[in-house]
Amino acid sequence: MSYAAADVFARQVAQKPDSVFGLATGSTPIGLYDELAKRYSEGKLDFSKAKSFNLDEYYPIKRTHEQSYYYFMNHYLFDKVNFAETHIPDGETDNPEQECVDYDAKIKAAGGVDLQLLGIGFNGHVGFNEPSSTYMMRTNLTDLTNSTLEANSRFFSEGEIQPTTALTIGFGAIFSAKKILLLISGAGKAEIAKKLFDDKIYTDIPASLLLLHPDVTVMMDKAAAEG
Ligand code: GLP
Repeated sequence: MSYAAADVFARQVAQKPDSVFGLATGSTPIGLYDELAKRYSEGKLDFSKAKSFNLDEYYPIKRTHEQSYYYFMNHYLFDKVNFAETHIPDGETDNPEQECVDYDAKIKAAGGVDLQLLGIGFNGHVGFNEPSSTYMMRTNLTDLTNSTLEANSRFFSEGEIQPTTALTIGFGAIFSAKKILLLISGAGKAEIAKKLFDDKIYTDIPASLLLLHPDVTVMMDKAAAEG
């Protein structure tokens, strides 16, 4: 899955060197990021004209915190490849509302996203757009659901304060991406993956809204596909 996803990235940057990539965190894309780092070190990839925008960030969180998405992205990808520019919502800001407005403006100024990488939460969240009766168009500060807090608690050590809110881009920016690549990995995701192939939009599964996008590729590993 990671190798095939890296091929999609490689084709994108070869066809359009100044591509804008939408990037995701979580355990799922780590294999892809490793593969991109490997191909870059072998001289097979060049991101020197490309930009990236991450989907989300915990709030509040210090950039130096090992669980911040800032730390994650630098550790797994940005320290190893050569993007011209990288952007992540600022988990340290004291004005989150302004940060959200500015983040959308930066994506727009870059011309929007060419290839949006997505993972999926056990509850069907994308970015940190959690199941809800309403979905946000713009970047926003959102409360995390108990199921997401529980799923991600494995990354925080005992006694450590886990942020209960996050900054996330909304469906406006996700849907304006020209292409979407959704990665699903692991047996734990088999159930939610199956729902995406029901040909139905579930109001309580944010990822099912992606069925409305004209260019979505879903790649999953065997374990996720066995559901
Ligand atoms: C976090 C991120 C999502 C990601 C999800 C799944 O909640 N905000 O963008 O898709 O985790 O993570 P994992 O791949 O570890 O299951």
